[in-house]
Amino acid sequence: MAFAHVGHSVRVLDQDPMRIQSLRAKMDPLGEPHFADLLGALEIEFTTSPSAAYIGAEAAVIATSTPQSPTGAADLKNVFAAAEAIAEHAPSCLLLVKSTVPVGTADALQRGIARRFAVVSNPEFLREGHAIADSLCPDRIVAGGTPDAESAVLNLYEPIIAQRYAAFGAVSPSARRRPFYWMERRSAELTKYAANAFLATKLSFVNEMANVAAALGADIRLVLQALAADPRIGSSYLRPGIGWGGSCFPKDTRALSSFALESGYDFRVLRAVIEQNNDQVRRFFEMIRDALEHIDDVKIALLGLSFKAGTADCRESPALAVARLIQDQGWALTAFDPSIPKGSPEAPDGIAIASSAEDAVANADAIVIGTEWPQFQDLDFETLRKLTRGSLLFDGRCIIEPRVATAAGFQYRGICAVSDQVPD
Ligand code: UGA
Repeated sequence: MAFAHVGHSVRVLDQDPMRIQSLRAKMDPLGEPHFADLLGALEIEFTTSPSAAYIGAEAAVIATSTPQSPTGAADLKNVFAAAEAIAEHAPSCLLLVKSTVPVGTADALQRGIARRFAVVSNPEFLREGHAIADSLCPDRIVAGGTPDAESAVLNLYEPIIAQRYAAFGAVSPSARRRPFYWMERRSAELTKYAANAFLATKLSFVNEMANVAAALGADIRLVLQALAADPRIGSSYLRPGIGWGGSCFPKDTRALSSFALESGYDFRVLRAVIEQNNDQVRRFFEMIRDALEHIDDVKIALLGLSFKAGTADCRESPALAVARLIQDQGWALTAFDPSIPKGSPEAPDGIAIASSAEDAVANADAIVIGTEWPQFQDLDFETLRKLTRGSLLFDGRCIIEPRVATAAGFQYRGICAVSDQVPD
C-alpha cells in the first residue's frame, strides 16, 4: 500500500480467496488502524492468480509468513513456493525478499530458483498497529544485494526516502529524508534479526531490573525515569511488564538463536533473554496464585488479552499465557479486551469474554491487567472496587497509577509494585 500511495502501480497476490475478496471490497482483514481508509483511496489490483500478478512486473516482492518449525528455525516453505511462482511467471526483474528469513536465504534463492533475477534482501521493520506510518515514514530502509541492483532499489524507494507523497490521515511526510542502507544480502537479513533481538533484550533487561527492584524495595518506575534521561539508553522499549509477545519477537529470537547455533555459535545472551521472557509470565502468575490460593472458588477478571495494545492479535500473547495458567489452576476467569468484542471470532478458545471492564470484574476476587491498553488508566477504580468481591489488583503492565488504585480501595500488586517488606 505504501508503494501504491507513493505512485507505483501495484498488484497484490494472495492464495487465500477470502482475503483477496475482502481487500477488493476495500475491507481490512487485519484490523490495522487507517488501513481501510488508505486502501479505499488507492487503485491496487488484488488477485489469486500468479500469472496475472507477475506479468510485466519490474519488481516482485516476497512478503509471505515464515512460521516457526518445531526446532525453532524459520519454516521457509512459503518463501520458496512464492519464489518458484515468480520464477515461473515473472520476467527477469528485481526480486525483493521482505519476509523475515535466516541469513543466507536470499543468497540461496539467487543461486537456485531465482537465478535469473536480481535478488535483494529488503527486511521490514513495521510494527503491528502502526503499519501505515511505519511504511510511509520508516526509521530506515535496509536493502542488500549485488552492487548492480542498488540503483533500481533506490529508484523504487526514492519517493519514500525523499518523503514525497500526499499526507494521509495522521501520517505526513517528514521534513527529513529517510536513511537508506545498502549492503550485501546476508548483512541485510541479519539486521532484521538484530533489531528484534536487541529490542527483546532491552525489554528482558528492564523486566529483570523490575524484579530486582521489587526484591530490594526500590521503585522501578523512578529508576527507569532517570535511566531514560540518558540519550544513550533512551525512553522507548523501557516499560516493564509480563514479557514481550506477538508473532515476531518470540519467533525471531528463537530463529536467531537456532541458526547462530547451527553456524557453530552459542548466542548465550539471547538464550537468557528468551528464558527470562518465559519466566516473567510464570513469576507473575505465581504472585497471583500465592495471594489467592487460600480462597475457595477463585474468580479472576483479566483486563487485556492481546499481545500488546492497539491490536486484537493474541499470538504468543503474555496476557493469554497468564489466562491459561489461571485456568490450569482450576480458577474461573473472565476477560475483557477492547479489541475483542463478546462473541468475536478472534476470542481465544475457552475464554469467557465480557463486553466491558465493569462486566468482567463483577464479583471477581482479583483484577489482573494483562495488556497495556491506555484506556485502562481511565477506568473508574472506585466503581470497579464496588463491583469486585476482593480488593487485589495485579498490574502486569505497570500502567495503573498505584496511588489511584490504592485510593479506590485496591491492594496494588504487580511487576512495578514497591514492596513494603524492605530488606535491611
Ligand atoms: C516488532 C518490532 O517492533 C517491529 O520493528 C518489527 O518490524 C516487527 O516486530 C516484525 O518483526 O514484524 P510488533 O510485533 O508489532 O513489532 O510488536 P512491538 O510493538 O515491538 O511489541 C512487542 C512486544 O513488546 C509486545 O508484547 C509489547 O507489549 C512489548 N513491549 C513493548 C513491552 O513490554 N514494553 C515496551 O516498552 C514496549
